[in-house]
Amino acid sequence: MIERGPAKYFHGREQEIHDFQYLMLQTMDRQMGSSMLIQGPPGVGKTALIEELKKHALQKGWQVFKLSNECLFDPKELFTKLTKKTKPKAFQKSFGIDLKVFQMNIATASVSQTNALNEALVLSQPTLLYLDEAQTLHDFLDHPDRPRITSFLNTYHNLESKKGFVLLLGGLNHSQEVLQQLGISRWNTGTVQHLKRLEPTTESQIIDDWLMKEIKTKDDPTHWIQQISQKTDGWPRHLQSYCNAISQYVAKGGHLTNETLHQVIAYGDELKKKNYEERCFGLSRKTKQIITSVIQSLPEAFDIEDMMEAFSKTWSSEKAQDIYQKILSRGIIQMDQAGVSSVPVPSFRSFLIEHYGKDRSRELPNHGLSR
Ligand SMILES: Nc1ncnc2c1ncn2[C@@H]1O[C@H](COP(=O)(O)OP(=O)(O)O)[C@@H](O)[C@H]1O
Ligand SMILES: [Mg+2]
Repeated sequence: MIERGPAKYFHGREQEIHDFQYLMLQTMDRQMGSSMLIQGPPGVGKTALIEELKKHALQKGWQVFKLSNECLFDPKELFTKLTKKTKPKAFQKSFGIDLKVFQMNIATASVSQTNALNEALVLSQPTLLYLDEAQTLHDFLDHPDRPRITSFLNTYHNLESKKGFVLLLGGLNHSQEVLQQLGISRWNTGTVQHLKRLEPTTESQIIDDWLMKEIKTKDDPTHWIQQISQKTDGWPRHLQSYCNAISQYVAKGGHLTNETLHQVIAYGDELKKKNYEERCFGLSRKTKQIITSVIQSLPEAFDIEDMMEAFSKTWSSEKAQDIYQKILSRGIIQMDQAGVSSVPVPSFRSFLIEHYGKDRSRELPNHGLSR
């Protein structure tokens, strides 16, 4: 069941798309590149939006390349990505080097030579480079390649380009902090986007498309749209679960009966629950119980210091930090731009409390049953 990535029926995010298009124009106009960061919790629609922005860049005739983390510290990897679609002859004409020979000898070509060529390739045309899941760069903070990543970011974050250049980054809410540690401290106004839940009208349009364009039903979809919207918290990933349930349970051209609606809702609920379980994967039951009891003891919007203080009652500060990093990187908690923390979706908080919340029988260890 595909519930991640490019959207079949994309709607909304008008402001973000507008800001991106304006940024593309500005970088051409000012001959100065810029980065843009799309942040948000898992399932909020970062990857789908990046795919959409990519389409806009392609429409404007920009060259677009998807980066992997490796591209940031291995110039050869970046070179391979940048030359994938390049014709050897065109490359030779522009750079005076035989692409094939350069690729073959790349291991012996110096890093600076490759870096220079990569830059030249990016400067030769209006270019969008994009990297998703930027928060995973956290893994490189103690890595020997860290200086190379910093050097990459220094080069491309503010690249002087006559033709237009954007480095688009996507990631969880702490990506900005990770990037700061790797050397990006200043952002142009409006280039850090915090994605939030979808507007109700946007959500309705998406469900409408799944019913009318995908299923091609002839029935009035209003009731279904109302019922499904109540289940999603405006969260794209959940919405996608219910839309997948629609395409599973309603035959093409089929009728929208109450019976199928129940099936769709039940299956959507199940997919949503699976998604929450997935996010808790690898945490022991006891850890989940402790995290949940701390979450329960705090208000819905809380300060991270209070969470850490509560953790310190059970765990050493090192262990507490480790757990914090884990729950942050899985989107079990998030911190917004105002520095306020929360469980990202209300129904996820309810799920945690329902499954791992305080249960009296578990609080009585000497109840005799364990013997
Ligand atoms: N604006 C949107 N319109 C339609 N579907 C969307 C939209 N945003 C996200 N989706 C869908 O929701 C699901 C989750 O989005 P995704 O981009 O994978 O989230 P993230 O990258 O933030 O974890 C995907 O199936 C995606 O296609
Ligand atoms: Mg994603």
